[in-house]
Amino acid sequence: MKPEFTLEQDVSLLSLNSFGINARAHRFLRIENLSQLQAVWEQTQTDAELAALPRLVLGGGSNVILPDHLPHLVLLMAIMGRELVDETDDYFIVRSGAGENWHDFVQWSVAQGYGGLENLSLIPGTVGASPIQNIGAYGLEMQDYFHSLTVFDFVTGELKTFQKQDCAFGYRDSIFKSGEQNRFVILDVSFALPKHWQPRLAYGDVAKYLQDRDISAPTPLDVSDAIIAIRQSKLPDPAVIGNAGSFFKNPIVSAERRNQILQQYPNCVSYSQASGDFKLAAGWLIEQCGWKGRRCETVGVYDKQALVLVNLGGATGADVRTLAQEIQTDVLKKFGVALEVEPVFV
Ligand code: FAD
Ligand code: EPU
Repeated sequence: MKPEFTLEQDVSLLSLNSFGINARAHRFLRIENLSQLQAVWEQTQTDAELAALPRLVLGGGSNVILPDHLPHLVLLMAIMGRELVDETDDYFIVRSGAGENWHDFVQWSVAQGYGGLENLSLIPGTVGASPIQNIGAYGLEMQDYFHSLTVFDFVTGELKTFQKQDCAFGYRDSIFKSGEQNRFVILDVSFALPKHWQPRLAYGDVAKYLQDRDISAPTPLDVSDAIIAIRQSKLPDPAVIGNAGSFFKNPIVSAERRNQILQQYPNCVSYSQASGDFKLAAGWLIEQCGWKGRRCETVGVYDKQALVLVNLGGATGADVRTLAQEIQTDVLKKFGVALEVEPVFV
């Protein structure tokens, strides 16, 4: 017998997106297990009206900018569960349902004695969204300890396993972000966490935090505590002020281009890449254009971090888009560098 599901209508997404946009969804369903998803897919095979709706798979809503009205079927991912599924001489293989909160999963894995993900502590959102833009922070990307994931393919109705080489992970990118969005619904993600763990302390702020506390042999929990403290000092808490984290990717330019910029702006902040290219600090570029702390009615630029756009109250997706475009125009004019938006505009 097919499991039943009832689509909710005209649902507020205000509390389901970290930018705090007062959006409403035409149709809405909370997905707690695979059977529900399969039942929806089966119905789309015979129900032309349902099949015609655009779909949005939603996790924690911390990397989306929503319009006021979504004509979509919104599928809120709430598949839970986390467990050790295997181990080798070198790795613990840990799997999590897509709907688990990312930070809770990191804290849980550290508490179990599985280090590895602690540099990604406190990133908002769900485990299921973590591969979408290959989340990263403080010298680590999710792909570094990624093992595999399971998807439900909404085109074919099949279940598939993706290994690392299938995901085309890049800086804030993957096949799920750059390819056909919302085709693959991620159901669970597995990580291979190292048994011979070493802390990753390349970021000066992290090393300094530990040094200041005389911690010379940090545990994964010590590193996690350091990351949490640093993030809380720099980034706005979405529960207090709506935002989507970094609004633009840090642009990657050739060594030649970076040298041209340095001749004119010797203080330009940049980081060398393995490819020989350089990553520029977009926050610095935006600050130099005078945008840091600026307010434009409902939206603004965070006063402690120019890479973060914030909701000053009543922001719409259109307001956010306008501000983002103005910043892109100014940075292009001043530095000749095109900034790419990081969150997903729906
Ligand atoms: P959502 O915003 O719900 O969705 C994002 C995209 O993923 C959408 O396209 C959605 O359709 C898709 N999606 C979500 N779940 C699934 C699924 N199960 N299957 C298929 N598609 C899915 N990001 C970083 O990389 N590093 C950071 O340091 C960082 N810091 C942040 C700090 C703050 C304060 C905020 C607000 C955001 C930050 N982010 C950061 C961005 C954000 O936390 C991540 O992108 C996170 O992975 C988004 O998860 P989510 O569940 O909220 O995804
Ligand atoms: N800077 C300024 N002015 C600003 C902000 C930054 O000059 O207003 C310069 C400073 O020199 C600073 C440098 O930029 O040292 C880098 O800033 P920060 O350490 O705050 O990091 P970021 O490059 O702005 C990136 C990620 C974050 C991630 C942190 C830590 C991107 C787009 N952003 O930010 O990810 O948490 O590094 O690793 O890569 C996200 O993706 O949403 C996100 C928050």
